Amino acid sequence: MEYHPVDGSPKAVVWMGIYQNLLCFEGAYIVDHENEMDTPASGQVPPKDALDQAGGAQPPQLPPQGTQTVSGQREVMSRRQFLTYALGGTGALMATMVASPLVVSAFDPLHRASGGAFSKTNWKPSDFNEKLPTHVNYLQHIDDGWNSQDVSNDVYVIVYQKKLMIMSHVCTHLGCHVNGSTENGKSVAPEYGNGKEWFFCPCHGSQYNIYGVQTPASPAPRPLDLYYYHVNADGYVEVGNNFQRSDATWGNNPNPTLA
Ligand code: FES
Repeated sequence: MEYHPVDGSPKAVVWMGIYQNLLCFEGAYIVDHENEMDTPASGQVPPKDALDQAGGAQPPQLPPQGTQTVSGQREVMSRRQFLTYALGGTGALMATMVASPLVVSAFDPLHRASGGAFSKTNWKPSDFNEKLPTHVNYLQHIDDGWNSQDVSNDVYVIVYQKKLMIMSHVCTHLGCHVNGSTENGKSVAPEYGNGKEWFFCPCHGSQYNIYGVQTPASPAPRPLDLYYYHVNADGYVEVGNNFQRSDATWGNNPNPTLA
């Protein structure tokens, strides 16, 4: 084995020290390491003269401080690697926590569904007529984000141009529940506006005809909203979301025509 010409340490140890310095990221540590290699502790490394006197026959012992330096460097590198892995893992975990809801939301069928869910009823189209609205109730299925529930709802239904006109009970002025012309739960002839209007809002007096169109004197700005519907294979009506009409297009009902 070859030895260092100055401090007499084995050259293999010197090369190991250089290699460790190249791996070290902190300049201060490199300086300290070089100082240690340049100034070995006296009394622990045989001087060059002593080696000459011994004829090079006695290989010097590995300096204890050099061993401690190499060992200490390994400990620092291991700690740094641990911190690197810990910080990297924490960052990846936080990124996953932030990104997961966005990914789920983007592919959630609840958000991609168009037209909303349709709620089953026990009505058939033949339960309604063209003369007067009929007041009926059903359980409205609502998907709101992650919440899914059935809520009781009531609507007024009349047949208009061979379609069901399913009207909301919500006044378009400020949202009060309108009253229909009924007696003992049965629809009767219009009772408001001198026998011309069928709906009346008790909050501010808006009046609507049998098709939910407001009178010019009413504070309500537009007709009652309508609901989408379809008739399922068993012949029962299923009710979807509601939509607005305007004064100019109140008769435009995109719902399917009844057979
Ligand atoms: S809320 Fe119906 S008239 Fe005002």
